[in-house]
Amino acid sequence: MIKVAFFDTKEYDRASFELCNVQNEMEFKFLETKLTEDTVDLAKDCDVVCVFVNDTVNDKVIDKLYEYGVKMIALRCAGYNNVDLSRAYGKIHVVHVPAYSPYAVAEHAAALLLTSIRRIHKAYNRTRDFNFSLNGLTGFDLQGKTVGVVGTGKIGRIFINICQGFGMNVIAYDKFPAKDSGLHYVSLDELFEKSDIISLHCPLTEETTHLINHESIEKMKKGVVILNTSRGALINAEALLEGIKSRKVGAACLDVYEEEADIFFEDRSGHILNDELLARLISMPNVIVTSHQAFLTKEALTNIAETTIKNIKSFFENDGLCDNELCYRCGNIEHCKKQRKQRCF
Ligand code: NAI
Repeated sequence: MIKVAFFDTKEYDRASFELCNVQNEMEFKFLETKLTEDTVDLAKDCDVVCVFVNDTVNDKVIDKLYEYGVKMIALRCAGYNNVDLSRAYGKIHVVHVPAYSPYAVAEHAAALLLTSIRRIHKAYNRTRDFNFSLNGLTGFDLQGKTVGVVGTGKIGRIFINICQGFGMNVIAYDKFPAKDSGLHYVSLDELFEKSDIISLHCPLTEETTHLINHESIEKMKKGVVILNTSRGALINAEALLEGIKSRKVGAACLDVYEEEADIFFEDRSGHILNDELLARLISMPNVIVTSHQAFLTKEALTNIAETTIKNIKSFFENDGLCDNELCYRCGNIEHCKKQRKQRCF
């Protein structure tokens, strides 16, 4: 029987995965701890480790997993910036869930935007206290505003559709623009200069790390609203805080934060937050932070569990073939074996 060790699990993970394993085809070991160099021993005797966004899957962890005979790293998420794919190549196969509900993330981005600009979070707290004053709650119309979308993949495109529904003017930047999409692509600089709202939907890579920084904020319109539901390190948080303090940035909505790994997903309400920068950002009246929640819908959890189980089964039952396998050459069409229906190695 295939034995799977799940790291960094929460109640909702267990529930959705157990529902997919009603016939007990696999043995599940649910662990609350994250995968790190210190916890990797817990994967001994397992065939598969199933990890999430903040697990550490670096060279040392991969070497240990290989030593323990683990054959597969199954990411139960789309992004894979936390996995050293080149180290895994030739040793352990890596699979992910390329899309589980792009709607969940795009709709969360839209929810954050509306909450922020219409001051819903403030109004909610006021009326609960029977404070019915409208002072300080003035928002602005989305209709006619320009939104700049960075990354026009699955989530970016759905977010664009939502924005078009509000009558917004959409401009976009993508390193690999979609052909015949009818989208109005501009350079990154032009996007920074012209957008009233900027929403990030690109992956975290060396190139996109700190895409939002002091210089890019300098180029933006005064009062710009910045949305990040992608990965925290796309934004230099210090630069963002400076931008907010100087009133250049009108509002920021963050579902992700560069240093979220040791903070997000846990109840820390009884503790002193050690991250001064995050505490300062949260204290700003025009910053909304959600803790990597954008994916969290029933539909997405079901899709994540179903696709992960399918990935594992497909690999063990099809001689190592799996459509959702990742390797360090991913995106390099010329060298992609997967596209030729072969194993990555
Ligand atoms: P996707 O792969 O469909 O789209 C990504 C797009 O970014 C592609 O069009 C690609 O060409 C573009 N891109 C690549 N490099 C770029 C660069 N240097 N500059 C600009 N664009 C670039 O991915 P999808 O599904 O739309 O997801 C986007 C991101 O959303 C993921 O990378 C992940 O980090 C994040 N995400 C966040 C979740 C959350 O709960 N907050 C859940 C799921 C994904």
